[in-house]
Amino acid sequence: MTPLSNIDLAPYTSFRIHAVAEYFTKATTIDELLEAVAWARTQGLPMHILGGGSNVLLTKTVKGLVIHIRLMERVASIEGTRVTVRIGAGETWHNIVSWMVDRGWGGLENLALIPGTVGAAPMQNIGAYGVEQASCFVELDAIDVATGESRTFTKDECAFGYRESVFKRELRDRYVITAVTYRLSTDPVIHAGYRDVSDELSLRGIVQPTVGDIYACVIAIRQRKLPDPRLIGNAGSFFKNPVVSASVASALRDQYPLLPLYQQPDGSSKLAAAWLIDQCGWKGAREGDAGVHAHQALVLVNHGSADGAQIIDLATRIQQSVHDRFGVDLEREVNVW
Ligand code: EPU
Repeated sequence: MTPLSNIDLAPYTSFRIHAVAEYFTKATTIDELLEAVAWARTQGLPMHILGGGSNVLLTKTVKGLVIHIRLMERVASIEGTRVTVRIGAGETWHNIVSWMVDRGWGGLENLALIPGTVGAAPMQNIGAYGVEQASCFVELDAIDVATGESRTFTKDECAFGYRESVFKRELRDRYVITAVTYRLSTDPVIHAGYRDVSDELSLRGIVQPTVGDIYACVIAIRQRKLPDPRLIGNAGSFFKNPVVSASVASALRDQYPLLPLYQQPDGSSKLAAAWLIDQCGWKGAREGDAGVHAHQALVLVNHGSADGAQIIDLATRIQQSVHDRFGVDLEREVNVW
């Protein structure tokens, strides 16, 4: 394998920020992936796995080898109402959701239009409108970068949490996800409870929504609120919604009765980071080409030629003002390279 050198990663990432990868290669088969992993190991170089590039902020030259995962595979088996699908890590998430919805297979329709690839979905346990990918997850296959061996991870082993998994924590940089298996249904439970979704359904006069209705509503909501990465660089939510203790939540609620908070099963509360940022006056703010989206304060945008440092600078100032005003610390959701 001979990797390319000095490749601009801007076209491979949704923030569209220019930064060069020292070495770059694509893996379209497991053999190509193993070869690339072995090459980086023998050269003693760090390795970086790039999927759809929708959750990455580039801040400098990326040292070592960037492997762009292009593993494509779609296998489905149906037993009664149960549908099991095995999807290659390189498939585009939204294409897969559309493919499922077209066939009437329900479970992941609330996650329509989430940018990125299937391999990245379990990594950060993507979620939207009341559903996380974990709810349909069965297992995944991954390559151990130290040995090149393939291993299957069950749902428990992935230890999914809010935008979390074992691959972001204990096993960070240790495995490359190659395929993910989901369980869907031809007679699924419909999740229409999230406020934006129920409002959109009412607007459309839909009382008993189908999988296709939810899919169409979610697409409409996202197109209204979130910037299209093809038109304006961004990486979706830049920060996570902060989770605070019950006592902190109730003190904040006393002071700010309109603060949206969502009680968690363990008694803690998840706060709407977008609301906190919005209250600090950041929505629509712009400093040079780094900005805050005009319709969703949680999304930072690149209006054209912002660099990573400018986005980080803006993010840091937002974190500071939310901390000063509410005493709450915002954690980045985006990976910084
Ligand atoms: N809000 C504001 N100002 C804003 C935007 C929202 O006050 O500028 C308020 C809303 O009124 C609402 C609350 O904040 O009460 C939450 O807003 P929203 O429903 O838009 O959801 P979010 O918590 O900001 C999360 C996910 C999104 C996902 C939506 C919908 C995270 C970090 N983000 O955003 O995921 O699409 O819920 O389920 O959990 C992503 O991860 O990239 C992403 C876009």
